Amino acid sequence: MTTFDIPAIDEMHTLAPAIDALPGRCAPYYMAAGEGERHELGGQLITVIARPADTGGQFGAAYVFGGKGIETPFLSHDREHRFLHVTDGALQVWLPGETRHLVPGDSVAVPPGIPYAYRMLAHRTRFLSWLTIGDGHRFAQSTGRETTSHVFDITAAVTISSTRQSELAVEFGVRIHDLEKRDLPPRPAATLPMSESPYVLEAGEGDRWASMDQLNSYLARPRNTGGTYFAMHTSGGKSSYIPRHFHRQHTENFLCLEGRILLHANGKEMLLTKGDFLHAPAGTVHSFAFDSHNTQMLGLLTTDVFEKFFEYMNTPTQAHIHTEGGDMSFPVEGFARARAELDLEVVGPPPQRGAGE
Ligand SMILES: [Fe+2]
Repeated sequence: MTTFDIPAIDEMHTLAPAIDALPGRCAPYYMAAGEGERHELGGQLITVIARPADTGGQFGAAYVFGGKGIETPFLSHDREHRFLHVTDGALQVWLPGETRHLVPGDSVAVPPGIPYAYRMLAHRTRFLSWLTIGDGHRFAQSTGRETTSHVFDITAAVTISSTRQSELAVEFGVRIHDLEKRDLPPRPAATLPMSESPYVLEAGEGDRWASMDQLNSYLARPRNTGGTYFAMHTSGGKSSYIPRHFHRQHTENFLCLEGRILLHANGKEMLLTKGDFLHAPAGTVHSFAFDSHNTQMLGLLTTDVFEKFFEYMNTPTQAHIHTEGGDMSFPVEGFARARAELDLEVVGPPPQRGAGE
């Protein structure tokens, strides 16, 4: 059994975030877009931005970047959930009984054991790939070849033998299915399923909650992920920092999808623009602020203990975009309830902009 190096909460408070480097232990770090472990895999560039060793075994994350026409066979993962969020281009995805064309902002969730396939439909297609263990990325890395490039090579072929590929698939819990990609009718869904079934969620849909001119949309709930994580999309305009706080039981991951986000982690202020990522494990003292109009952030929280926070702090809405000029009063009651009931320890007032070390 793998054991992970996870610092105690008191030590985690003191760790300066690593910059553009995977720490190799569960620690806070910032990874700018394009940085990470890069492998070429049959015309796709796989950029791993989080390995199990970096997250205490809680998840793995990567960007997948490729050109028009690149496609996979049907795959499934024995042990892990996969969540894809398209950031660029266009992606066709096959799930059992349906096929969908995805554009930036759309997501796909695939539970363990469910076969799926994808094809890139635009010349520069990119998506975030989230796996609840990270083995699928290790499979991609070990079947591909290491590269220093930051772009894909559309002409590159997979060079590994099919026998070796099968051995690696077994090792990393990946199954390759001989299924036909048929044009099947889409099954439009604007809400999350009630259980762990596969789904596509279009940009702007999801379970939506709003306050203080921000729209918070659950793109995946714990009921969809076996409680391993949930995904929260936040859109809004310029905002103030929230109070500095930390969590004892869950990791918070911030990904900038659009605009500018200021992140304060263990006393250091960092700017996130599109594609930048910050890993804040339990114990990291943090805060964030939006720093441009129409900013969009994807939060991926492991495990599920903080799900109710966004319900306590917001009210349900049917809107598909955040408002401007609405009620900006801080939801004091909801915040007090969150402090009393949830995994939230406030350590100080919001940091000043530009006050990081
Ligand atoms: Fe937090």
